[in-house]
Amino acid sequence: MPAPRTIPAVKGFRDVLPEESRRWQALEEAAGQVFGRFGFGEIRLPVLERTELFARSLGETTDIVEKEMYSFADRDETGLTLRPEATAGVVRAYLESGLAQSDPAARLFYRGPMFRRERPQRGRYRQFYQIGAEVLGRDDPLADAELLLMLVRYLAAVGARDTRLELNSVGDRTCRPVYRERLREFGRAHLEGLCADCHRRLERNPLRMLDCKVESCREIMARAPVAAESLCEACRAHLDGVRALLEQEGVTYTMNVRLVRGLDYYCRTAFEVVGAGLGAQNAVGGGGRYDGLVAALGGPDVPGVGFALGLERLAMVAPDAGGEPDGPTAVILPLEPQAVGPALALATRLRDNGLVVGLEPAGRSLKALLRAADRRRARLAVILGEEELRTRRGTVRDLTRHEDRREAFSLDASGAELARSLRTMIGAVE
Ligand code: HAM
Repeated sequence: MPAPRTIPAVKGFRDVLPEESRRWQALEEAAGQVFGRFGFGEIRLPVLERTELFARSLGETTDIVEKEMYSFADRDETGLTLRPEATAGVVRAYLESGLAQSDPAARLFYRGPMFRRERPQRGRYRQFYQIGAEVLGRDDPLADAELLLMLVRYLAAVGARDTRLELNSVGDRTCRPVYRERLREFGRAHLEGLCADCHRRLERNPLRMLDCKVESCREIMARAPVAAESLCEACRAHLDGVRALLEQEGVTYTMNVRLVRGLDYYCRTAFEVVGAGLGAQNAVGGGGRYDGLVAALGGPDVPGVGFALGLERLAMVAPDAGGEPDGPTAVILPLEPQAVGPALALATRLRDNGLVVGLEPAGRSLKALLRAADRRRARLAVILGEEELRTRRGTVRDLTRHEDRREAFSLDASGAELARSLRTMIGAVE
């Protein structure tokens, strides 16, 4: 019979191995700490939602809803979708859980996988992870400024390098229609150069032309009027308010009047964190204000503002997060088969006392075992051979200094004493 073939992962879906996972953990822990200081609590959301949640919130004519969602009919025919983003889910939960009544000015953060059927490339996957934060119930510039301040503090805390914050205002219900009309006029004047999708967008949602990926459209749209020129008085004042507070706190940012977001729910503040060395997929994170979204999802007229960072891209701009991994404090090396039981007993006692302990299988030469301990980058090796079992004294070898420390280590001491003496040997006394 032929050997069974291996089964590859689905295209655009990847594994996160322990080394990368360790760095992600550091990024997630830092988020919990920094966001916690700003009063955010974590919300854990399902990855599956009803399709209509996204169709109604992200916009029917966005790339995500038109062609990138993993949608399917459940066995009872309910239309379901693997979430392409989490803001819509946060708003659904805010309404459904009663937070809208009990804590209308909720501050929530989340982390987890999102799914978009985009063309995979470096930094772009079909399953990717986000860390995000949402402030509901606040429409004052202070809410936006505080959120952005938290974002830059977080980026600094994880050692993100070469990133910049870009800011814009995309207007609101009052000035957006004026801008939309200006864009339509511009589009009509350049019709022959625009792709078929943009012809359609021109009538249904001209703002989406700004987001077109086709090169010829991008060239044309680079000359299109910008939202910032059409802002109403209230939007202008809001933007000025956000900027003044950012400047007061010394937050560095650049205004980018061409910044548009790929989702329809934004109004007023829109921003992105751009990574200089990331190539084509250079947005480490993005977000903005979404004052009409809660109402569009059937709730009261509650404003909101938030952001999400892509964890894969964040890990690229913050490569030192998590530091160097530590090897185990000690590796136990049983030389003989009869040392296996005592070796496990010793490892258990040390682990119960908080040490990171490795354990090698018996049956190899001392040299081979020491090589294995070195490979694991252990600080100490505890050798258990016939003689050690007879005298009840372990031989501890300091792998950095290559010294045997036989006298200090009685196998009959308590786990706490053993752990303390190993810690003393490596100079890490608590
Ligand atoms: P977004 O700009 O669509 O916003 O995504 C945020 C971040 O997720 C991006 O900047 C990027 O780092 C990462 N990302 C997006 N797609 C992919 C992909 N295919 N592969 C890898 N990373 C990706 C949102 O999702 C909004 N919900 C953000 C928000 C929160 N706005 C208000 N509140």
